[in-house]
Amino acid sequence: FQNLKTTTCHFRHVESMSTLRSLAGKVTGLNAVVLGEALASEDDELVFPNDDFSRQALVPSPKKYLEMYKRSVEDPAGFWSDIASQFCWKQKWGQSVFSENFDVRVGNIKIEWFKGGITNICYNCLDRNVESGNADKIAIYWEPNEPGSQDSLTYSQLLQRVCQLANYLKDKGVKKGDAVVIYLPMIMELPIAMLACARIGAVHSVVFAGFSAESLAQRIVDCKPKVVITCNAVKRGSKVIPLKDIVDVAFVESTKNGISIDICLTYENESAMKRESTKWQEGRDVWWQDVVPKYPTTCAVEWVDAEDPLFLLYTSGSTGKPKGVLHTTGGYMVYTATTFKYAFDYKPSDIYWCTADCGWITGHSYVTYGPMLNGATVVIFEGAPNYPDSGRCWDIVDKFKVTIFYTAPTLVRSLMRAGDEYVIRYSRKSLRVLGSVGEPINPSAWRWFFNVVGDSRCPISDTWWQTETGGFMITPLPGAWPQKPGSATFPFFGVQPVIVDEKGAEIEGECSGYLCVKSSWPGAFRTLYGDHERYETTYFKPFPGYYFSGDGCRRDKDGYYWLTGRVDDVINVSGHRIGTAEVESALVSHPQCAEAAVVGIEHEVKGQGIYAFVTLVEGVPYSEEVRKSLILTVRNQIGAFAAPDKIHWAPGLPKTRSGKIMRRILRKIASRQLDELGDTSTLADPSVVEQLIALADR
Ligand code: PRX
Repeated sequence: FQNLKTTTCHFRHVESMSTLRSLAGKVTGLNAVVLGEALASEDDELVFPNDDFSRQALVPSPKKYLEMYKRSVEDPAGFWSDIASQFCWKQKWGQSVFSENFDVRVGNIKIEWFKGGITNICYNCLDRNVESGNADKIAIYWEPNEPGSQDSLTYSQLLQRVCQLANYLKDKGVKKGDAVVIYLPMIMELPIAMLACARIGAVHSVVFAGFSAESLAQRIVDCKPKVVITCNAVKRGSKVIPLKDIVDVAFVESTKNGISIDICLTYENESAMKRESTKWQEGRDVWWQDVVPKYPTTCAVEWVDAEDPLFLLYTSGSTGKPKGVLHTTGGYMVYTATTFKYAFDYKPSDIYWCTADCGWITGHSYVTYGPMLNGATVVIFEGAPNYPDSGRCWDIVDKFKVTIFYTAPTLVRSLMRAGDEYVIRYSRKSLRVLGSVGEPINPSAWRWFFNVVGDSRCPISDTWWQTETGGFMITPLPGAWPQKPGSATFPFFGVQPVIVDEKGAEIEGECSGYLCVKSSWPGAFRTLYGDHERYETTYFKPFPGYYFSGDGCRRDKDGYYWLTGRVDDVINVSGHRIGTAEVESALVSHPQCAEAAVVGIEHEVKGQGIYAFVTLVEGVPYSEEVRKSLILTVRNQIGAFAAPDKIHWAPGLPKTRSGKIMRRILRKIASRQLDELGDTSTLADPSVVEQLIALADR
């Protein structure tokens, strides 16, 4: 049995379960068993890290994990201050490592870590590495959209570029606490811009370059930036996207709302569009290449308090406009660095590639800050993973000898559909750890990722976390535990997940319910920008005493956590969070739309798809033309990624007598679970349901 530790173990004899369970307990220290195909439950399938991997791992056993975890929750101040001491602080934090009020019944929610500590995250990402002998280590390998060329920056070159931009921004009057909006694709200038802001204490707000002009304007109006940084265009796959044009439209919109932008720093992304073809407004628009390189390559750091804001990142909620999630400096720094190190078992020789865009939290914490705080070499890819064909990712893996590959289940599923031949034509021998994020990874995609991409050799870190949490919350530590395909396994150090029932009572042991967290962790967001009340209402009031994640979760008999998806009106499309309310409000802004209700449906590749029930204005005929124009409205108002997959014509919507839309019924109709509609007698007009069913496939 000892030998079986080296691989995935399959046992077919159910009757040997108890023997296996006790053997597994002896070998791994776990009360768990290895499973076989004949067993009904996915809970019993264990995949062990191989011995060689565990031997070299930072956390090589469940015992070590438990030891560290125990200290992290029993003595969080000691645990985290020991780690924080490894960073550079101009001045150490005050007496208490952290202070928190996590309970709305006691008072306002307040979280502080390392308060009084004076530091700078850019200094810790760059100068600290340069000074400790990593000056010539590659910080970024950049792979452009078109295969065949590449670029790179060492840590000292990156520092110089960052300093030049920081000096430019300072010269233009950007000061500590000022906001800077960054609307860039995955070119090296994106992390450069983030780090330059951090260097001078400015608060960056990166807006994913797939968002529409209207979404960009909304964010500009909310955070009122001193400068907007963009580029003229980007090529993704065979498509050119004129980003500067989108920014121009956003500026018109934001001016209507009283916010005008004085400086739009524009990088000329020559491979996508020449500057001559770019629309220009003299006085406001400035070419990056014309000004930034003229500035000095050194720039004094603005030392900031650990609790000074680092960035704002807008994310979708179940109601209203997007929320500006605010992260501060010190705790976020310590947390992203530590989670990166342990969850990927990071070693200085690793080459790390995360396919996420810096426009999302994953790109903040695990393209830029977490890896660079560890002095890692990061791969950044401008293009699309299926261009020129579905083998592109593995081509890049071989080219840069990537050792850690971190991606989203939606990409795994789409590459899985493309076929194994695109994978096996590449060596992928350099890979040693795989990672997944953004949505639950279904066991079959997990197994394909593990067996085909990782040649059954690389553990998968299925990391559960959120924009709000700043870093990993529930994640495998790849050398420590056997994994279960589809489970995010166990909490990271310092994280105390709890599962509560509808009334907010904690449930112990094997159970399902709402996933909450007890007490704070250093990377937690501190507020919603300009709306602390919404912060408390959304996250801390539903289950007083806890942070409520918005996710459902199950804990199995062995204590493994299984995320089951959002329990609020948020849809997760290809790992992108979209509020149903946002899509609905875009739809109803269409002059021919009277009413809309949006629900999520299962989607083979995207995880969830967007399904919209739409009632048109009286007298407007339901036509293909209107359908297309409704979809276009959503693309224009939010972005292409939020376009509905299906528009279901609805002469009426199922509402209670008080006028509340019964989404439960709409979800069942959307997923065609027509025999599970439940009680429809409380509807104001039950015949609406029949009409909707009749129109289902039109
Ligand atoms: O529903 C969970 C899902 O993504 C949500 C957070 O989305 P966002 O803030 O955009 O951050 C995405 C990247 C961290 C969560 O509430 N989610 C994220 N990771 C996982 C996941 N669901 C299951 N398993 C995961 N590993």
